[in-house]
Amino acid sequence: MTASTVPFARVEIVPEAQQAALRVLRSGWITMGPETAAFERELARYLGARHVVAVSSGTAAIEIALRALHLEPGAIVLTPSLTFCGAVTAIVQAGLHPALVDVDPGTLLPTSATVAAAARRIGRPDAMVVQHMAGHPADVAELAAAAGLPASRVVEDAAHGIGAELRGTPVGGASHAACFSFYATKNLPIGEGGAIATDDDELADQARTTRLHGMSHDAWRRYLPGASWRYDVADLGLKANITDVQAAIGRAQLACLPAWQLRREQLAAAYDAAFARVPGLARPQRPAHGRHAWHLYQVRVTPDCRVSRDQLIETLTTQGIGTSVHFIPVHQLSAFRRILRPEEGRSVPVTDRVADQLISLPMYPALTDSDIAHVTEAVAAITGCTVAA
Ligand SMILES: Cc1ncc(COP(=O)(O)O)c(C=O)c1O
Repeated sequence: MTASTVPFARVEIVPEAQQAALRVLRSGWITMGPETAAFERELARYLGARHVVAVSSGTAAIEIALRALHLEPGAIVLTPSLTFCGAVTAIVQAGLHPALVDVDPGTLLPTSATVAAAARRIGRPDAMVVQHMAGHPADVAELAAAAGLPASRVVEDAAHGIGAELRGTPVGGASHAACFSFYATKNLPIGEGGAIATDDDELADQARTTRLHGMSHDAWRRYLPGASWRYDVADLGLKANITDVQAAIGRAQLACLPAWQLRREQLAAAYDAAFARVPGLARPQRPAHGRHAWHLYQVRVTPDCRVSRDQLIETLTTQGIGTSVHFIPVHQLSAFRRILRPEEGRSVPVTDRVADQLISLPMYPALTDSDIAHVTEAVAAITGCTVAA
């Protein structure tokens, strides 16, 4: 295998973020404190949300948001199977039981019809996780109605969603609780980190407590001049706080996000144009009423293509082009097979079909026009075509 000439991901931590991290490292306070509070305010403004609670990961954000619903142990939570394993682990760790929803082959999102079918199969779901796959904004209100759930029982998995909009509103700014990830390859990369955005004061308070063992006061507040060292733990929590080093990086990276999103849009348009004439390669569907965040650019290698998905991945790898697959459906993973009811795997046939066709191509703001040309020409040559000029 040769080294990637166009790697699947290339993480950019801008010089301002590097300097901000150094400033915090020299400040005498490194863990969650004033930088975190500033990051939360700035992200809330960007999203149009009343509150943002920053945490250690997107996975922790989903678990904390689900815990805040106060459901009975074993309550049933709808989730796509075509999602990241951690998102479904979060359901289980919150003491709840996942039930699977199939997706549309074009958008890779659940639809009203697939949600309604899942709700009929399992009886009455208690909650639902809606995932904005690849950055395609899902219509949360429509899917909640199809599940027979109020919006207050929906948690958005917006790990791919920052930068996306639905009907002019940023994803996560208009829902009960939306969970973001700042993992290294995400649109707002910090390295690790996550956040919950909500308009609900009570949920925000609870998330702040749950992220730090359930303690009524975090260390920063306990150590402020005149503050008390006393605290209570009313309910057990997680150790899932963010640190000020991460928050300082996040603040500087956030300033770059609008420009990065524009570049992602250009790259998606370039891929779309180049692949328009590649038979058998299904391009990602564009949102009907919104703005795609282009966290991922996923194509489907259909049976009409000259090569299989796996052949395309292998040949691109030998040519130094990195790719990935999002995702292996969770019902195909051993641990989830043990957790899920036996009929769950059989209830998502479209997921099974498209999961074997998916390939994610390089998609990040640092990609150059010549990188894109290299990738599109390689894909076209392997599939036996010439790309549009
Ligand atoms: C769809 C989705 N949900 C949740 C997560 C979890 O985020 P984190 O890695 O920050 O825990 C990811 C991360 O890759 C993801 O892709």
